[in-house]
Amino acid sequence: MKLLLSFWRSSIGKKWLVALTGLALLGFVAGHLAGNLQMFAGPEKINAYAEFLHANQKPLWVARIGLIIAFALHIAATITLVIQNKSARPYAYQLYRNVQAKLSTRTMAYSGLTVLSFVVFHLLHYTFRVTDPRFKLTTEGGLLQTTHDVYQMVLMGFQNPLISGFYLLSVGLLSLHLSHGISSAVQTFGLESKRSAQRIRQTGRLLAGAIFVGYASIPTAVLLGILK
Ligand code: HEM
Repeated sequence: MKLLLSFWRSSIGKKWLVALTGLALLGFVAGHLAGNLQMFAGPEKINAYAEFLHANQKPLWVARIGLIIAFALHIAATITLVIQNKSARPYAYQLYRNVQAKLSTRTMAYSGLTVLSFVVFHLLHYTFRVTDPRFKLTTEGGLLQTTHDVYQMVLMGFQNPLISGFYLLSVGLLSLHLSHGISSAVQTFGLESKRSAQRIRQTGRLLAGAIFVGYASIPTAVLLGILK
């Protein structure tokens, strides 16, 4: 416990926590994308996948609780790290750093906050299904006749251009966040050298770009009538 506390109190300990939880969240984002891309394989595939997840409640809840803990620690460690850094640095150095790290650091805060508000909306939208009355599960003439007609629900959700637009903006900012986050995590783990720095940054950008293209392809395909 003492060890954990001293890990939390130290700047480097918190950096490790941000990096480790960030990688865990990246794992979820990649896995969730792989699941969602089954939209292109047709309703049977994605609905069977959703049914499989819901049929395995125990592992599902273990994963959900792990995800919530990782998300909470990622945010808490980042905020305390920023506060700690601000109070530890003299003004001139702070100014210098802000100029140096303008794009990455500043967009990290904005993109992080947008991803957070997106996740809240997304859960209300597709998990709790409270933002659209058509998503209410009913056997009495409602549009979603079965518990797991995820295909139809996603289709109906993205046919609204405002909703699709918000998803596109959010996954764009998520990708920007990941692009910096991935190389930053590698740096925290001490795996970056002068020679490899450029390659690591490029790999981070490539991964983040692929995640954007994957997620953006679903609302775009619905809006273009490719998925119907
Ligand atoms: C095109 C983009 C996306 C689509 C179509 C999509 C689709 C879905 C659907 C259908 C569900 C509900 C599954 C069910 O209850 O059966 C869900 C849950 C969820 N999504 Fe997404 N998602 C997208 C993007 C994202 C992104 C970018 C994130 C994270 C940054 C995310 C995080 C989550 C989370 C945390 C859940 C709750 C999982 C659970 O505990 O059941 N999603 N998503």
